[in-house]
Amino acid sequence: MLKKPYRLLVVTGPARSVQFETDRPVLRLGRDESCDFVIPDTTVSRAHAEIRLSEEGIAIRDLESANGTWVNDESVGRGRVLRSGDRIELGDSQLLFTFEDDYAAPGTLSHDTRRSRGASIIGSAPAMDALRATIERLATTDAAVLILGESGSGKELVAKAIHASHAHSLGPLVTVNAPALPRSLVESELFGHERGAFTGAARRADGAFTRADGGTLFLDEIGELELAAQAKLLRVLENGTFHRVGGNEELRSTARVIAATNRDLEAEIEAGRFREDLYYRLRVLQVVVPPLRERKSDIPELVDYFVRVFGSRARPPVESIDDSALRALERYDWPGNVRQLKNSLRQAIVLAAKPVLARSDFDGLERSGDTERLRRSAVERARADGAIDEGDDSFEMSLNLEENERRLIRRSLEVARGNKTKAAELLGIARNTLYEKLKRLGIDD
Ligand SMILES: Nc1ncnc2c1ncn2[C@@H]1O[C@H](COP(=O)(O)OP(=O)(O)OP(=O)(O)O)[C@@H](O)[C@H]1O
Ligand SMILES: [Mg+2]
Repeated sequence: MLKKPYRLLVVTGPARSVQFETDRPVLRLGRDESCDFVIPDTTVSRAHAEIRLSEEGIAIRDLESANGTWVNDESVGRGRVLRSGDRIELGDSQLLFTFEDDYAAPGTLSHDTRRSRGASIIGSAPAMDALRATIERLATTDAAVLILGESGSGKELVAKAIHASHAHSLGPLVTVNAPALPRSLVESELFGHERGAFTGAARRADGAFTRADGGTLFLDEIGELELAAQAKLLRVLENGTFHRVGGNEELRSTARVIAATNRDLEAEIEAGRFREDLYYRLRVLQVVVPPLRERKSDIPELVDYFVRVFGSRARPPVESIDDSALRALERYDWPGNVRQLKNSLRQAIVLAAKPVLARSDFDGLERSGDTERLRRSAVERARADGAIDEGDDSFEMSLNLEENERRLIRRSLEVARGNKTKAAELLGIARNTLYEKLKRLGIDD
């Protein structure tokens, strides 16, 4: 039995970016304050899952949660040993599991090339056929690709498909999730660093560009890269060269870059947060993944697919869905896109305990899109009140940024049980910075 520190990083859901490092023999995860790792997400049960040191390794099990605990899309049921890089799902929150001493930084993930070939894009709406045709065309070039689309629409899936179909990609697919990394580490993560380049850099390390050499580098949420990192990225795209942080040696990488964002990059340029030259460079090969509400004819196919995937594992198995339930799903607007549809079906299947899903199994649906709707309606209200002009996005943008920041800070304080030093650590910022932010954002503690 090996006691080995591990790290959990929230990659989606309201607690996104919060991470937790531990070597405790037992760790309870859930929404309730009494859990060791509190995940403030209404789709997470009070006591949802437990991670425990066992004879075979570090294992996770479900604690009779309302919607189950999943690892890489498989229900963990009574137990499953975790491997570095596993994706744990509790409700709408996804957590990345890695061992502390693992080579990869928390925001990085290397996919097994063979496994990603299995990624199938479901849907035969005309827009999806066009998307598949584009992916095929992209297989013959090495140029950088920009994937645009709302959250949950399938950008990462498309990136995997581009990588898998690429004619001569023998190397790995390396993913760098910019928002999941502390800002100070993004450049080192991308380009590597020399020994002593910054406090804590005890040895030289390669970056994602080096590890993805001969393969694909997927830069998720590129809209959140800092301007300095954007400049360096542009340089690699233009002449294939870069330096490690703190180094002079000129390095090369043949990694093919695929970048994705759900932000409006033109608005980001306008606001001075995104480099125009980088945008022009990236948008040469642009793939737009349409939101689910614009391809509702795909809903029956997606439903069928997810019912097959999750239904066969349920006890008793769920085999189908009745007409009135399907019609309700087709009517709904899916602000969280395919991810929300997938999670709703998964939850309904776990709760149903009968072979055919009915309309009543989706009663919670209207509630699940609430956060997005609230945000939208705040913007709409302000517009109606004349507080902002039609077509002015800056309000929406700042509302977003401030709200996100506020939420993230509140959450970190919750996770840290009000301990500000710990909360600042979780956020990767100095304690003084946290105090400033608390004051500026009017968060009372
Ligand atoms: N067309 C599709 N067919 C099957 N599964 C899909 C499809 N589109 C999305 N999914 C599934 O929905 C989930 C969300 O997709 P993905 O992670 O690719 O979205 P995303 O656009 O990267 O979202 P975000 O902006 O939040 O990162 C994933 O589990 C993915 O496998
Ligand atoms: Mg994504």
